[in-house]
Amino acid sequence: MQPLRLTVIGVGYLGLTHAACMADLGHEVLAIDTDHERIARASAGELPFFEPGLEPLLRKGLDTGRLRFTTSYQEIGAFGEVHFLCVGTPQAADGAADLSYLTHAADALAPHLRSGCLIAGKSTVPAGTARALLATIRAAAPAGEQVDLAWNPEFLREGHAVADTLHPDRFVFGVTSPRAEAVLRQVYAQPLADGIPALSMGLETAELVKVSANAFLAVKISFINAVADACEAAGADVTQLTAALALDERIGRRGMAPGLGFGGGCLPKDIRAFRATAAALGVQSVVSLLADVDEINKSRRSHVVDMARAAAGGTLSGKKIAALGLAFKPDSDDVRDSPSLDVCGRLAADGAIVTAHDPVAVDNATRQHPELRYAKTVLEAAHDADLVLHLTEWDEYRSLDPAALAAVVAHRTIIDARCVLDTRAWQTAGWTVRTVGRSA
Ligand code: UDX
Repeated sequence: MQPLRLTVIGVGYLGLTHAACMADLGHEVLAIDTDHERIARASAGELPFFEPGLEPLLRKGLDTGRLRFTTSYQEIGAFGEVHFLCVGTPQAADGAADLSYLTHAADALAPHLRSGCLIAGKSTVPAGTARALLATIRAAAPAGEQVDLAWNPEFLREGHAVADTLHPDRFVFGVTSPRAEAVLRQVYAQPLADGIPALSMGLETAELVKVSANAFLAVKISFINAVADACEAAGADVTQLTAALALDERIGRRGMAPGLGFGGGCLPKDIRAFRATAAALGVQSVVSLLADVDEINKSRRSHVVDMARAAAGGTLSGKKIAALGLAFKPDSDDVRDSPSLDVCGRLAADGAIVTAHDPVAVDNATRQHPELRYAKTVLEAAHDADLVLHLTEWDEYRSLDPAALAAVVAHRTIIDARCVLDTRAWQTAGWTVRTVGRSA
């Protein structure tokens, strides 16, 4: 493999993972962020978030000298043959994507770009962004038309970020020239040699692949959650139903776990941004589909609060609730738009005394919800509880001993908002179990 000099702009979840993985592939990588503290920590080998398997790659990159960090655009402009744009595109007040980090990065980078370099966008953006960015950068860069731009969306999941970057299901190359495609093939030469497919297409299609992939994942989750409501109403069991659906090869078993719905830094904002793009394009079918998906998803949280209120005897006021899980999903300390943390906040707002546990997300949760109580162990959280809520499906919670918990609570009632606990084992230990998507 011929190593390239790569830069990574934005040292967040996506950028730091990409930078460490590209150095692991053998490239020389220089990563930049405007946050000096973040750069200082990354240079010292510290991750600003929890991600299994990433820290050893970061340290290896630093030790070999293949991965370095800077805050100077001049330095990355002089260094880079390929510049990966990995800045965030958060949700703006109107639901659309806020592209200001992207435009600031492009403005700062353009004057320093070398002739013949390639900019490769990885951030999730509305269709049309890449083409507009290319025109702006070419107008501002002394190298002008000699600067090229591609869109190479990232599909990584938190908790699986390293594997998803080095061994994705596919690479998507949005390009306007054969040379850009050839450069991207050189960047990913090793995984491509391992047989991972790469699909080349136009810029707009590549941008839309990413947002429609996330929209489809969200549709699947809201679909099964709508069916969970039907199961509760009809006296059926959504877990058994999902197992049967999964054996239909056209449907499949992955990404259709019912429960508390989706959260995190991507799916909720990305469906809203896609909806805004579709509205601007006049594509009403996408607008209404994604509006329903969003509404169904939001309703999961109030549904679990309603279940808690009913299980607590009709009122939450003064009730002691042990909440298991705060992260938006297991193997992550991310609480951005976390359904679990949101439920805890709503319960507390309704007068419950919530004591929450999470293996890694307590610090982040405390910053958002200082009014909640936090426990270091599950037993501490459950002490004297009137009700236990299972909110994030960490392995640690699946393997809890129901008898041990039964010994410390005031009332043996648990709500399984993620539909994964072994109901029979809990019932055998004397618990009343309420599960989302089951009538009793
Ligand atoms: C997602 C996409 O999967 C990824 O491709 C994209 O690059 C970024 O957004 P991520 O947010 O890390 O990744 O997590 P994901 O595993 O997709 O889960 C998203 C949310 O959906 C979580 O809150 C999770 O609990 C929920 N979910 C997921 C379900 O409720 N049911 C499922 O079956 C799967």
